[in-house]
Amino acid sequence: MTLLHIAADTDPAEVRLHTTDPDTIAAELRSRGIVFDRWPAQPVTAEIAADDILARYRDRIDDLNADGRYRHIDLARLHPDDTDPQWPDLARAAREKFLSEHRHAEDEVRFFVSGRGCFYLHLEPEVVAVVCEGGDLVSVPAGTRHWFDMGSRPDFVAIRFFEEADGWIGDFTGDPIARGFPTLDELVAA
Ligand SMILES: [Fe+2]
Repeated sequence: MTLLHIAADTDPAEVRLHTTDPDTIAAELRSRGIVFDRWPAQPVTAEIAADDILARYRDRIDDLNADGRYRHIDLARLHPDDTDPQWPDLARAAREKFLSEHRHAEDEVRFFVSGRGCFYLHLEPEVVAVVCEGGDLVSVPAGTRHWFDMGSRPDFVAIRFFEEADGWIGDFTGDPIARGFPTLDELVAA
């Protein structure tokens, strides 16, 4: 279930809002200038090809990209594979990549087809954490300090929209703020 968790940026224990109500989540994010939308979710397995998944959302992708601003649209996916001895290391490495505060030169636009991941937006004086699930579209505005947690067992399929091929590259702030906030695992267990 989509979850919004807002706390003071100077004190993760000072929780200001914790809700799974869809209308409240949409209103709170929009009031902060964060694009948030819902598209139909699709249960997809590792066997379904990326092109097939993208084709299912072709009309919505074309609508979102009506002005052609996103020149690179692809699919990011991770599915647990307990038969692969490399999986734990792969999962850990993937998770670590964007687990520290950073920002991008362009909006970070993601549609979660299935699975789950959490964006933490550092919007002073708050940290706004959005646990996205299948069906959620979110856009982190360019220049916004944020981090992303895919959890200890990453399992998601997400469509990514980039203006430039290197739009995913992060400019890391060096601020250790992320370490003080609840992880995705902790947020969904609460
Ligand atoms: Fe990012």
